[in-house]
Amino acid sequence: MNFSYKNPTCIQFGEGQISSIVNFINKKDKVLLVYGGGSIKQNGVYAQVCLALKEYKYFEFSGVEANPSVETMNKALKIVREEDIDFVLAIGGGSVIDGCKYLVAAACYDGDAWDFLDSTSIVENALPLGVILTLPATGSESNKVAVLSKKATNEKRFFDSDFVFPKFAVLDPRTMTTLSDKQIANGLADAFVHVCEQYLTYPTNSLVQDGYSESLLKALITLGNTWEKRKTKNWQDNLMWIANQALNGLIGVAVPQDWASHMIGHELTALIGIDHARSLAVIQPHLLRVMFKDKKDKLRQMGENVFGIHNDAQAVIVLIENFYKNIGIKTSLKDYSFDEDSLNTILSSLNKHNMTKLGENENITLEKSSQILRLAMQ
Ligand code: NZQ
Ligand code: ZN
Repeated sequence: MNFSYKNPTCIQFGEGQISSIVNFINKKDKVLLVYGGGSIKQNGVYAQVCLALKEYKYFEFSGVEANPSVETMNKALKIVREEDIDFVLAIGGGSVIDGCKYLVAAACYDGDAWDFLDSTSIVENALPLGVILTLPATGSESNKVAVLSKKATNEKRFFDSDFVFPKFAVLDPRTMTTLSDKQIANGLADAFVHVCEQYLTYPTNSLVQDGYSESLLKALITLGNTWEKRKTKNWQDNLMWIANQALNGLIGVAVPQDWASHMIGHELTALIGIDHARSLAVIQPHLLRVMFKDKKDKLRQMGENVFGIHNDAQAVIVLIENFYKNIGIKTSLKDYSFDEDSLNTILSSLNKHNMTKLGENENITLEKSSQILRLAMQ
């Protein structure tokens, strides 16, 4: 093992923690609050933020959409520049947070900040960012990744940079009271796939990373099996913490990582508008089948240590599928409007975005992606 690991985001976890944001933002800072379509006004989050910031000078930008677009965030960028904003506070789920990561980086860049997404430039500075999380799923609240879309070209791409790690993230599970079942299920599935992307590869005998990944997977399965308790505090506390731990970088150090389900899933969302987590659930089980030879040892290990079944790697794929189905998430593309033309569009987008050697062994070629999508269509 040979790695460098840091996670600089201070997590403020628990009920009532929103008021603690004043400990992280300088009183002289001009703050921009950024949020989505208004859920924060229904669950008391907005009121708590306004109360906490009553002695600050702050501005607001709302309307960040699910799967945030650079077109929308460039409107926020105008405010950042005109008002000389010092600190950006993202209030929402992964979309608002990712949109703000783009915003804080774009604020310190002279060119078109899409450059970060198509890898023609790297982030060299950013404004400070704070987060109030309202939807546990992506882990974006304490990682350095952002996924943005460009409406003009129907693309969904990502960038990462140490500069966009949030300074702090408030994780108050009471903000989850207004989430729909669909959003809660999405959070559960997204977190599950995040662990799998870093765990279901090939054995490296990395005892800490494997052991913690297996604990997180078991915990998510427990939440799936107690779905009827999803409105209880304990259930929600657990989901918020697990989803955070699933993608804060820790379990991924020094181990092979896959991420092909995510890369193909992003193209699906860009093309047919499917929710991020739902794109993963239609791809991942079929990817595990097509790449079975590469994955079988780790699938077998997952069977033993997570599901408690012995020596049956194929059965693990079915158990994963059942985990999604039991929380109401479909695992076939037949449930979406997706045809032969869609398949060809996805393949040409993957090609355009250099996604032609995906997976931990870089052997998920376009041919393999095509097989995975075809299996998902059956
Ligand atoms: O806009 P509002 O009104 O707030 O409604 C949102 C939105 O419509 C709503 N919502 C959020 N909190 C709520 C709530 N509704 C009621 N009560 C609450 N407490 O939920 C809807 C979806 O929100 P969104 O932020 O889009 O969901 P999620 O957190 O799943 O984020 C998905 C985005 O994150 C990206 C995805 O690709 C997608 O664009 N990802 C980011 C990652 C990262 N930065 O590390 C990794 C992930 O793999 C993922 O790709
Ligand atoms: Zn994800």
